[in-house]
Amino acid sequence: MSKTIIISNRLPLQIKLEENEINVSPSVGGLATGMKSVHEEGESLWIGWSGLAEEDLNEETKPKVLAEIQKNHCATVPLTENDVDHFYYGFSNKTLWPLFHYFLEYTSFENENWESYKRVNQKFADVVLENAEDGDTIWVHDYQLLLLPQYIKQKKPDTSIGFFLHIPFPSYEVFRTFPWREEVLEGMLGADLIGFHTYDYERHFLSCARRLLHLDTNFNEISYNDRIIKIDSFPMGIDFDKFYNAAREHSKNSETEKSDIQKKLDDHLYASNEAQMILSIDRLDYTKGIPNRIKSFEYFLEKYPEYQQKVRLIMLAVPSRSNVPQYQLLKRETDELVGRINGKFSTVSWTPIWYFYRSLPFDNLIDLYTSCDVAMITPVRDGMNLVAKEYVATRVNQDGVLVLSEMAGAAKEMNEALLINPNNFEDVAKTLKMALEMPKDEQKARISVMQERLKRYTVEKWAQEFFTALNSTKDVINTLVSKKLNTKLTNNILEKYSSAKKRLVFLDYDGTLVGFKNNPLDASPDEELYNLLDSLNAQPNTDVIIISGRDKETFTKWYGDKPYTMITEHGVWLKDKEKDWVALENVKRDWMPKLRPILETFVDRTPGTFIEEKNFSLAWHFRKVDPELATLRSVELKTVLNSLIANHHLSVLEGNKVIEIKSGNVNKGRAASRMLMKDNYDFVFAIGDDWTDEYMFRDLPESAITVKVGLQKTSAKYFVQNTLEVRNLLKKFTETPILSVASK
Ligand code: ADP
Ligand code: G6P
Repeated sequence: MSKTIIISNRLPLQIKLEENEINVSPSVGGLATGMKSVHEEGESLWIGWSGLAEEDLNEETKPKVLAEIQKNHCATVPLTENDVDHFYYGFSNKTLWPLFHYFLEYTSFENENWESYKRVNQKFADVVLENAEDGDTIWVHDYQLLLLPQYIKQKKPDTSIGFFLHIPFPSYEVFRTFPWREEVLEGMLGADLIGFHTYDYERHFLSCARRLLHLDTNFNEISYNDRIIKIDSFPMGIDFDKFYNAAREHSKNSETEKSDIQKKLDDHLYASNEAQMILSIDRLDYTKGIPNRIKSFEYFLEKYPEYQQKVRLIMLAVPSRSNVPQYQLLKRETDELVGRINGKFSTVSWTPIWYFYRSLPFDNLIDLYTSCDVAMITPVRDGMNLVAKEYVATRVNQDGVLVLSEMAGAAKEMNEALLINPNNFEDVAKTLKMALEMPKDEQKARISVMQERLKRYTVEKWAQEFFTALNSTKDVINTLVSKKLNTKLTNNILEKYSSAKKRLVFLDYDGTLVGFKNNPLDASPDEELYNLLDSLNAQPNTDVIIISGRDKETFTKWYGDKPYTMITEHGVWLKDKEKDWVALENVKRDWMPKLRPILETFVDRTPGTFIEEKNFSLAWHFRKVDPELATLRSVELKTVLNSLIANHHLSVLEGNKVIEIKSGNVNKGRAASRMLMKDNYDFVFAIGDDWTDEYMFRDLPESAITVKVGLQKTSAKYFVQNTLEVRNLLKKFTETPILSVASK
């Protein structure tokens, strides 16, 4: 039976050694707590790190650890102390974590750590490959394993791989500072589906892929090598019932069943009618905005002194990554702030902040969630934040108020929370007051809407949606595989070519015979191309036509002394072998002076674009421009042009990073059909890379062999990846013995 393989750096269980005895506890953090419920359902294996370095284990403890891991349907990746230092603390938590959370000042770029990151990602790949069987679905998680999808794909290209990032993906302006940006993007693109918590992270990723790898994106799909990768957002949910039911059970606890923590919380709550508690729970991480939160609580107590002695901040900070200096500094800063504020405001019977620095068992977490009137979740940057969702899920009486930072991914879905900018103390203090004073019916209205959503979009549903999307990428893969010109299909075409009596071959130029260049003048033919075209042209009973959007002057310069048949300007001019150029279409130029100024305004407003004036057309090229600006401006230009051309017998064509206005209904399809009439061709072949070639693919007869270069949407029958493959294919034409030679 096929299984799901979940891979994350940390396993859902954390193992510690105490005098050769192993101590197992659940891992904290959104990834582990969320995925745990997915792992518990169905056939799945979770691969990750146990939390112990290999050097910590001995002959006695190692088998115990492995047995525990196996018992939990997990497999471990052995990390040495050196790996833990450089891969985990180093690259993952001193480079990627701060960079992706916009803490550039905390980000270090150390080559040694990068080397270790690659090595450890490879170690993970080795364990995955040992365990993966055909038909398994692989789901890689988070920033520690950005290279893993690629490493797996290289070895097992037919496996379906999903990747999910649990933290933000930063904007291009931040990501571009990263020295290994291309490698990391390529690593992630090994997956067939890449998921993020929010649409913002998704669009940042797409923008980086476009700008840094120059990849073509079509809505949320990226064409990369011979694959199409889907990018989507899936906001992670929680196991709603688990939290809701636990909270309901808690409410039934008798006095003796209550935990010590619960009793202490009750002491405060029952001390007076006006006593209220504000909750703050996070891993002790600088992204969580803990110092800001404490300072804004201080500001609140100063601004609204009537709340002193009544309101208490219950702060749970779970120890995390304490080997990283920034976390140690944060610990010190937090201790000092709590100490100072408690010193400043405390009375005999009241301390404003209760601060726990430890990990608590699940039941105590529920004590905290259910006892606090307000949850104050104010990260400065957070991929999602599940604590916010868990707090809402435990409010069985539908009371309580969530104050949530706009900078948390969760804020996108939790509009009924009181959303704040955590850097605005004034606003935080005001909102806190509003939360503490919110009437019960308003609390209920807000909490109930959020609960409904959390109940619907649970973590199971989230995983299900991810898997459904991943499965649908398999259909895309299958369609593509069937269209890709593999050896069998190529041989088939060659057979037809060889046995045909009369052959007609259409070749687009830019992006097909030569690579796409930033400057069109740089795309002149090379020696190899001349040789290839010479041989093709010499094939008996074969008409080869270069069909291009270029002007005839450029082709005359490059091929003037060659006996090639060429069609330029999308079908305006024909040069039939040694003969002179003749116009195929009756076209006009009188419209050009009127429209040129419009294109010029677009050039002025869009640096990097330029106008190419051909004999009968004007082209606006935008290949050197930022891809997003280019999309925006080209939509704008098309709208302007379409409103102007209606009465002028003009048409607007969109090519590869070019918009062209031409006279009449000229296009490559019309030109190709005209050439087809000239003889009785029994082998028709057309190859091209852009939109203008689609006219040809569509207008040629059904029996024609049409080939698209690249993976864009096409009506061609087959595709090849790049110009190298085009040349290889054409070379095979020239090497194929011609079986049947028709009499002229
Ligand atoms: P992050 O993933 O950055 O740590 P999240 O808020 O998304 O932040 O996830 C934190 C997860 O860790 C939550 O599911 C929460 O229940 C869990 N958690 C937080 N504190 C503790 C704790 N003391 N003991 C056990 N689990 C905890
Ligand atoms: C966040 C990350 C997880 C990570 C967790 C705990 O939730 O997204 O990948 O596991 O924090 O951090 P740690 O470094 O202890 O694994």
